[in-house]
Amino acid sequence: MTESLTVRDNRTGAEYEIPITDGTIRAADLGQIKLNDDEPGLATYDPGFVNTASCRSSITYIDGDKGILEYRGYPIEQLAEKSNFLEVAYLLIHGDLPSKEQYDAWVHEITFHTFVHENVKSFMHGFRYDAHPMGMLMASVGALSTFYPESGRIEDPDNRHIQIVRMIAKMPTLGAWAFRHAQGKPYVYPDNDLSYAENFLSMLFKMSEVKYAPDPRIAKALDTLFILHADHEQNCSTNAVRSVGSSQVDPYSAVAAGIGALYGPLHGGANEAVLKMLRRIGSKDNIPAFIEGVKNGEERLMGFGHRVYKNYDPRAKIIKKACDDVFEVTGVNPLLEVAQELERIALEDEYFVKRRLYPNVDFYSGLIYEALEFPPEMFTVLFAIGRAPGWLAQWLELVQDKDQKIARPKQIYTGARTLDFVPAEERWA
Ligand code: CMC
Repeated sequence: MTESLTVRDNRTGAEYEIPITDGTIRAADLGQIKLNDDEPGLATYDPGFVNTASCRSSITYIDGDKGILEYRGYPIEQLAEKSNFLEVAYLLIHGDLPSKEQYDAWVHEITFHTFVHENVKSFMHGFRYDAHPMGMLMASVGALSTFYPESGRIEDPDNRHIQIVRMIAKMPTLGAWAFRHAQGKPYVYPDNDLSYAENFLSMLFKMSEVKYAPDPRIAKALDTLFILHADHEQNCSTNAVRSVGSSQVDPYSAVAAGIGALYGPLHGGANEAVLKMLRRIGSKDNIPAFIEGVKNGEERLMGFGHRVYKNYDPRAKIIKKACDDVFEVTGVNPLLEVAQELERIALEDEYFVKRRLYPNVDFYSGLIYEALEFPPEMFTVLFAIGRAPGWLAQWLELVQDKDQKIARPKQIYTGARTLDFVPAEERWA
């Protein structure tokens, strides 16, 4: 049976039959609904894209009501427990799990592209001592396009592949250097003997020792956090990557746009905001007053609520467990008590229950990051490193999708029309 929608335009009495495919109608099909041939056709108004599909995608599946998240069909819980970040990155980019040979070749490629051109180091040195590391990451990822001018040849599959490898490999180097910069410490070069997460920890924390050896439990927890952040279908930053990428610009410029979007407090910047909020609340006694402020609209409970999840974010559950593993090494973060109590009260409170607001991925991740001695400014950088394979998988899908066009939403114009311009000397006379 072909599915369709019959629409009757009550302005004209005309009826239209619009095909339904995969639970959607094509917005362009509404364009035929017109008052007359001189008028533009009917359009949809959807600020924030709350009910508009912008692409067909086979990368990530989310069922927000049931709290399900799958990458290429594999449940996030299984990937977090049994896989590792580079294998998940391969899965996202290539669509399938790797064979042993494919996995070894992929890990080798990523591991041997971790170094950046020395001039990158020079310009990172040019940032102010208190530069936010997300600003530094965004600028340096964007700048990589100038080091690889061939990256603009996005129609060439081999060229696309090498840029994807470079970006996944170099993000930790750039993120770690942004961190060292704020601390006035020398930048540490990659150590290609180490795993992805271990090498990142080495570039962050190595001082005078010949070889940095992170606690394997910490490296594992970081790797798991990267997996949890690796993709999340059409969120704000992925939409930014796709939107900018639709102009056929190189992937570094498109991902830099994604990093800019992630920086905001309603998106990846929420983990930083959660920690600042928990510090501000300080102790369990202050929670009721804080919750009152949220309910009165004076505050937002950061790390709660999600556009898609109307149930517990599955990533938050896994992170809550990872907290235990990390705190075993670092000692318990005293803010954990405040967070747990905040969650308990919020989950019982009618305001949050009615709006189906649950903890999201950012609610507990900041506590782990802080226990690992990251300052809050670094939290979103960690999110960005984890999200890179997802952005790139989405970019790759976009550039190969024949349905895609340059992103160009419509608007409803509400301003003045056909005014007569009065020159300044007459207006000011
Ligand atoms: N605290 C208090 N009230 C909230 C919150 C919150 N965290 N989130 C939503 N609400 C209320 C909101 O005020 C609105 O109430 P009302 O119907 O009375 O006007 C209702 O819940 C619906 O919220 P919304 O803002 O229309 O929902 P949205 O889908 O546009 O926003 C969100 C989703 C994630 C931006 C929002 O929940 C929020 O601001 N959360 C805090 C920031 C945060 O934790 N962001 C991280 C998201 S997960 C990781 C990521 O994607 O980066």
